[in-house]
Amino acid sequence: MPHRPTPHRVRLRTVLALATAGVIGAGAAVFFNGSASAGTTLGASAAEKGRYFGAAVAAGKLSNSTYTGILDREFNMITPENEMKWDATEPSQGQFRYTSADQIVAHAQAHGQRMRGHALTWHQQQPGWAQSMSGTALRNAMINHITNVAGHYKGKIYAWDVVNEAFADGGSGGRRDSNLQRTGNDWIEVAFRTARAADPGAKLCYNDYNTDGINAKSTGIYNMVRDFKSRGVPIDCVGFQSHLGGLPPSDYQANLQRFADLGVDVQITELDISGSNQANAYAAVVKACLAVSRCTGITVWGIRDSDSWRTGENPLLFDGNGNKKAAYTSTLNALNGPGSTVSTPPVSSPPVSSSPSNPGGSGCTAVVTLNQWDGGFVANIRVTAGSAALNGWTVTVTLASGATITNAWSADRSGGSGTVRFTNVAYNGQVGAGQSTEFGFQATGSGAGLSPTCAGR
Ligand code: XIL
Repeated sequence: MPHRPTPHRVRLRTVLALATAGVIGAGAAVFFNGSASAGTTLGASAAEKGRYFGAAVAAGKLSNSTYTGILDREFNMITPENEMKWDATEPSQGQFRYTSADQIVAHAQAHGQRMRGHALTWHQQQPGWAQSMSGTALRNAMINHITNVAGHYKGKIYAWDVVNEAFADGGSGGRRDSNLQRTGNDWIEVAFRTARAADPGAKLCYNDYNTDGINAKSTGIYNMVRDFKSRGVPIDCVGFQSHLGGLPPSDYQANLQRFADLGVDVQITELDISGSNQANAYAAVVKACLAVSRCTGITVWGIRDSDSWRTGENPLLFDGNGNKKAAYTSTLNALNGPGSTVSTPPVSSPPVSSSPSNPGGSGCTAVVTLNQWDGGFVANIRVTAGSAALNGWTVTVTLASGATITNAWSADRSGGSGTVRFTNVAYNGQVGAGQSTEFGFQATGSGAGLSPTCAGR
């Protein structure tokens, strides 16, 4: 890959200038053309697009220098493959054991890598004592487990898989039967609220498999996330495991996008791909993630084929000797290719984006992406600073008559109908020149004609 000197910033300003001038109108999808300086590792190339590239890691392999050599060269996010699961962290009730997981966290901290925590609750890999519990005793044990484990790692985890694999396969779109499910349908929201209290700084994710396309299972999860957002249950992200047997389904990107449009980040959390079309399939997954502005990163489930849980299927990016495979090259090329950066307006099809507007000329623009359904909508609003940094912002929106806000995130608001003002919260008021931040809200009624205006401080 030739190194082209075009700096990132210059291209970004060009796009913003076009956007501000109204050249890019409603429904426009903005992509950079991939001429950014091409990274030479998965982590660096993902970082150029504002994303991470991670791997599942086993503590027992951290003494293998081939393994750690690849890990520390290529990856900037780590998920413990088994070490943070319930059976590993609480082998006897009330007795917590963090030795192996702590080793992985220490490695990550020493090498500038972030951590995804996996998994606070799951029907599998429960300790024997929990497997044989039920009812209130199990519910309380779950709450105690989350409080302790998320509390132990407080401030050290980028995102937690709070609940793993709680939905059933097949056409029902409903929950999987499990001892946790039998404690009551509210167990998932209790788990999320408990995790938020224990580690308020971590993003909280729901994670599952066979959810890669738009199907009954992913729609069941979509409806749960929409419900959580409407009722203020704390959920920040949805993980798509993506254990694939070839190309992802054709609606893979659309599926990621519909979740993102609910106001959550999406992440590819356990990627591995078997089959002869492996290199193309990896590239297709990367391209889909890069096309969804809220797809914040990709994690592969192991490093070398010999590390994979899918024994004999060779589904990873490095062979057993640690050599790069064709799938590695296609993945790196896709990361270096076209794709939205986190600073571009979101892709807006099928949702509709407004033109940026800034009549006050006060140093910021606001662009809305709308996901309307019968009777309600979610609006995500991207605030972008102009040529000067912001020390705070206020976005004003006038809702259509009859529309009422039920829930908002990442901003404070005054009012719920008519003209509503949103101001930044503590963590997203400072926006660098040309940089963006997002907030959103859900409302009943119609989102037609929303045209937010932005005032900066
Ligand atoms: C797997 C691990 O890779 C194996 O080592 C272990 O024996 C079983 O679990 N979905 C998940 C992961 O969320 O935790 C699983 O990991 C793979 C499927």
